[in-house]
Amino acid sequence: MFFSKLPGFFTPDISFDLGTTNTHVCVQGQGLVVSEPSVIAVLKGTNEVLCEGSAVGRVAKEMIGRTPLSIDAIRPLRDGVVADFDMTEALLSYFIRRVQEGRRWFGRFNPRVLVAVPAGLNAIEKRAIFNATERAGARKVYLVEEPRAAGLGAQVPIHEARAHMIVDIGGGTTDISILSLADVVVHRSIRVAGDTMDEAIIHHVRKHYNNLIGANTAEEIKISLGSACRLDGSDDDRFLTVHGRDLIAGIPRAVTVTSQDVRTALADPLQRIVDAIREILERTGPELSGDLVANGMTLCGGGVLLRGLPELIQEETGLKVEVADDPATTVARGTAVFLERLDDFRSILESADDDL
Ligand SMILES: Nc1ncnc2c1ncn2[C@@H]1O[C@H](COP(=O)(O)OP(=O)(O)OP(=O)(O)O)[C@@H](O)[C@H]1O
Ligand SMILES: [Mg+2]
Repeated sequence: MFFSKLPGFFTPDISFDLGTTNTHVCVQGQGLVVSEPSVIAVLKGTNEVLCEGSAVGRVAKEMIGRTPLSIDAIRPLRDGVVADFDMTEALLSYFIRRVQEGRRWFGRFNPRVLVAVPAGLNAIEKRAIFNATERAGARKVYLVEEPRAAGLGAQVPIHEARAHMIVDIGGGTTDISILSLADVVVHRSIRVAGDTMDEAIIHHVRKHYNNLIGANTAEEIKISLGSACRLDGSDDDRFLTVHGRDLIAGIPRAVTVTSQDVRTALADPLQRIVDAIREILERTGPELSGDLVANGMTLCGGGVLLRGLPELIQEETGLKVEVADDPATTVARGTAVFLERLDDFRSILESADDDL
């Protein structure tokens, strides 16, 4: 009995926000300690991770579209769901070891791990997360739905018997949830988010400039020039010169993209996000709607950082819109709240012992 409690005594619990684009790791007592792109580089056709440390996260993301024939830079999650089981395990295992680095041997017992997952996953999708996390070295795995973690991370009083709306615009999906009594009452996920915006920019540059740019370049354009609506003054009139491949001459060529180009390219994905939010609002019962008029909605996820997007959503829905502090880490910081009292929260979190 005493010995079975030893690991918990020495090893802090760990939590993951395992996103399509970014992974955040929190450690009990320390909060958020790692934020890295969810990318891993392997030898082509194998599950062999390249020289550890230089093959995961930021460095691996830089490799996307630049790898030699022998290397693959992989994003193991798609739309928040495990797309490549072995690579998800490798990613989790790398981060678990990384946050335990420097600990004395007795601080390196297998930790308990809490993973934030999209609302509405089916049993098979949940099982994949459980298994990958266990195989990555977790002693015990718990799952929490991302909107609940986001609510806590954004300090929204989700435990009230009143409706609160959380919209998480990530890389792979936009998740729209209404919470009440700390649970998800209504939820909808659409596969339109940051990645779709990048794809729309690639498509626009291809169509209007006959130039093929890479995904990382499109993201760079979005972050430096992107906006959801016209901005005031000089901010609205900017440009960026990037490099791609001329589709007619077939050779590398510079192309100058303007803020107006990006706004045109993003109009369609943004409209789809706004429409999805409006649809949920239209389908929401009168009691919940009344609460939402009073409480408004909270936005989080890295996609919300697109300039003018909160204003556009507010204008199109008529609801008060608030952006969570540091929106890209809201879910992760929410999981950290659970970590501090994991034993108290165990009964409301899903574990592998539950009937999935
Ligand atoms: N300043 C910015 N302007 C516009 N978009 C941004 C900005 N900063 C980050 N993003 C976008 O945010 C997205 C990543 O957000 P986030 O980290 O919340 O996604 P994720 O949690 O990994 O994905 P998901 O929740 O869909 O699984 C990327 O598409 C990125 O390009
Ligand atoms: Mg996310």
